[in-house]
Amino acid sequence: RWPRKVFSGIQPTGSLHLGNYLGAVRKWLQMQEQNSSDSITICIVDMHSITMPHNPPMLRDNIFTMAATLLACGIDPAKCTLFVQSAVLEHSELNWILSSLTTMPRLAQLPQFKEKSRQVRDVPLGLYVYPVLQAADIMLYKATHVPVGIDQLQHIQLAQHLARNFNGRYGELFPVCTPVIEQDDGSRVLSLRDVSKKMSKSDPNPKGTINLADSPEQIKEKIKKAVTDFTSDISYDPNTRPGVSNLVNIHAHVTNSSIATVVEEAKTLDTGRYKERVADAVIEHLRPIREQIDRHMANRKELSYMLEMGADRARQVAQQTMLEVKQRLGL
Ligand code: ADP
Ligand code: NA
Repeated sequence: RWPRKVFSGIQPTGSLHLGNYLGAVRKWLQMQEQNSSDSITICIVDMHSITMPHNPPMLRDNIFTMAATLLACGIDPAKCTLFVQSAVLEHSELNWILSSLTTMPRLAQLPQFKEKSRQVRDVPLGLYVYPVLQAADIMLYKATHVPVGIDQLQHIQLAQHLARNFNGRYGELFPVCTPVIEQDDGSRVLSLRDVSKKMSKSDPNPKGTINLADSPEQIKEKIKKAVTDFTSDISYDPNTRPGVSNLVNIHAHVTNSSIATVVEEAKTLDTGRYKERVADAVIEHLRPIREQIDRHMANRKELSYMLEMGADRARQVAQQTMLEVKQRLGL
């Protein structure tokens, strides 16, 4: 009954990193080639980024850098809708409406809220309502498929609950979205400094994260210092050798090779030499992306214009949804 529509949100809390790229952006690129232009929506969710303490000039910079980086990776505004959340007012409007359709206990038990609220003394209301805004992001575009990491599953379940609840009370209006959880196909990249964690923008240790905009020197240094173990040969076993396996995994992805090939070719190398090889491959793979990032960043006017066009396109869909919502609610 519902046409396939993909929605993805990405926070401009920091630079796009290798984990985002291998785990998410490369999949968006595949979808972009398979789908028609109005069926994939990518939203830079800046309103989510203000739920924790933040620095305004840095946020504004990060929004532009995120847009430039997504374009540099190959996200094509002619093939998908790329825009900044705060430019489309309907996100806040639907957030408010949905907030009456769920309960405080339901939000309080969400794991991400529990974890983040421990990091601040006085918990902002925005942090608490965050998953409702996330549901509004998805539902405004009547998205049917939402690619997310496993850590976001409960938030998607909340969005499903809100869609069902709305439909039940006011009549069928929203599809119940399906989370597209990344499979354990090795696209999950771990922090280079703490292999018990995934590589993340919010990692307090920036040395564990390779950003797509990093210079070759930074990449070399970060990989050189990546945690490995006391065995010097190269093998792949994520359970017993997570550090080396993480490098092998990254290496395989950026060279488009299989794990087996990469391990076989590294047979004669020790960890130190192998790290140099991985660093070279990552630098080589990211070079054209970095050049494109620089090109887009040098042309902010064009970047702003492109985002405004994206917001216009998003707004048309969002405003139509809000008309329907308000009609159903008697507003
Ligand atoms: P971050 O933790 O860096 O803030 P987000 O939560 O904004 O990342 O996630 C954006 C997208 O990138 C999601 O689809 C998520 O699954 C993917 N992603 C994030 N970190 C990784 C990682 N280390 N490995 C693979 N995919 C990742
Ligand atoms: Na995150």
